[in-house]
Amino acid sequence: MKTESIKELLTGEKVLQEVKVKGWIRTFRSNRFIALNDGSTIHNIQCVVDFENTEEEILKQLNTGAAISVTGTLVESQGKGQSVEIQVKELKVLGIANPEEYPIQPKKHSLEFLREKAHLRVRTSTFSAVMRVRSALSFAVHEYFNKNGFYYVNTPVITGSDAEGAGEMFRVSTLDPKNPPLTEENEINYKEDFFGKETNLTVSGQLEAETYAMGLGKVYTFGPTFRAENSNTSRHLAEFWMIEPEVAFLDLDGNMDLAEDFIKYVIKYALDNCKDDLEFLENRLLQEEKTKPQAERSDMTLTEKLHFVLDNNFKRVSYTEAIDILKNSKPNKKKKFNYIIEEWGADLQSEHERFLVEKHFKAPVILFDYPAKIKAFYMRQNDDNKTVRAMDILFPGIGEIVGGSQREERYDVLLDKVKAMGIDEKELWWYLELRKFGTAQHSGFGLGFERLVLFATGMTNIRDVIPFPRTPQNAEF
Ligand code: 4AD
Ligand code: MG
Repeated sequence: MKTESIKELLTGEKVLQEVKVKGWIRTFRSNRFIALNDGSTIHNIQCVVDFENTEEEILKQLNTGAAISVTGTLVESQGKGQSVEIQVKELKVLGIANPEEYPIQPKKHSLEFLREKAHLRVRTSTFSAVMRVRSALSFAVHEYFNKNGFYYVNTPVITGSDAEGAGEMFRVSTLDPKNPPLTEENEINYKEDFFGKETNLTVSGQLEAETYAMGLGKVYTFGPTFRAENSNTSRHLAEFWMIEPEVAFLDLDGNMDLAEDFIKYVIKYALDNCKDDLEFLENRLLQEEKTKPQAERSDMTLTEKLHFVLDNNFKRVSYTEAIDILKNSKPNKKKKFNYIIEEWGADLQSEHERFLVEKHFKAPVILFDYPAKIKAFYMRQNDDNKTVRAMDILFPGIGEIVGGSQREERYDVLLDKVKAMGIDEKELWWYLELRKFGTAQHSGFGLGFERLVLFATGMTNIRDVIPFPRTPQNAEF
């Protein structure tokens, strides 16, 4: 007999038929009612056990977490809270879960506790909902680009270059750390390393994606990226997934249009396709908000937050304008910010980004034309020689969700920039050559996938929206 998914059965189409399901017990009460979940939906199906005709031995094994197989008749439910239930005829315990040992019991566990049980946490409603939304968003990403004529390119995970020039890389090496080969100058001789040079895990696929955009026209990457930055915040991971479109013949305005259209598409996709999970997460967030002091509570529900992005035009504001707003803002004057904005050129912290979005503009914000000094080497220099064609998209509760730019397509300007920033031009010979052969205006951006999932699910810590988070001092599982 075919095993059905609980999601299918809950539609009620198979009422009065014999059905079979397999799943994990969420709760078992009154020696009669099993709430069973198989991961296909946030909802459990109620299985009614005929306890008089079930062996004592089996009843004892019906504990939270056990895997079972159930065959029975799907009937309309008499009880409250569900439309259909299964009158069990045959029940098999596939795998027991000893209640003395199984940590996920039917009570509220803290997210911190569940992070330590990351191999089991997907069996909770919260994490299964988050991971289903994550999966849907990732599908929507591919669907958007596919519908819009983009090609998916797979850029290397191991590279020899530091795309962001921030020096936050994880080394990849097969040299013996205890006894590395040395050069005459007594330095480690990477010529003898696996690749014959120093290599690292990529911080971004952008540079390689640019080469493909200059042949395929419109491309995107969607893969893991790695940053060895020692940031223990709720928005940073050492391993995260990034989506990076790159488009030939596109300027910064077009890049902003693309980013806004793309983000709205994937959020809309989640709203349309993850209704049950979002409803659950919305209620979860409401409960969570209630435990916070009044002043810190968000005045928007999850659905309202998602509509806030869908229904508003993203405000496009230059860095210079933003600095003026911030300098004159209340929290700056009253020294409420941790970092006081004193002059043009300051790097913005997430407190400033969130002020602009949540308090000042009350809309998602695209900041553009940043000072060259605080941005990467590849961004196109403006005629003022002070700013570059950069753009960051700022979201409520998140701060920066997208970073992108129009790229410097002029060979001489780029070479000067590379030299001025102390980057080894030999490492970037191929990137520079793009500017020699058929160079053209082009632009792209990177969206941090976990920050998107964070926003879409209303979760507050980025460690809770990726299956196995990698953060400083933590690579368990
Ligand atoms: O702003 P970033 O560093 O931009 C780039 O890497 C460019 N090469 C992108 C491009 O133009 N193709 O990173 C892009 C986004 C950020 O806006 C943020 O959402 C996310 O990646 N991000 C992180 N997410 C989680 N943990 C981290 N440590 C992150 N660092 C960046
Ligand atoms: Mg950035």
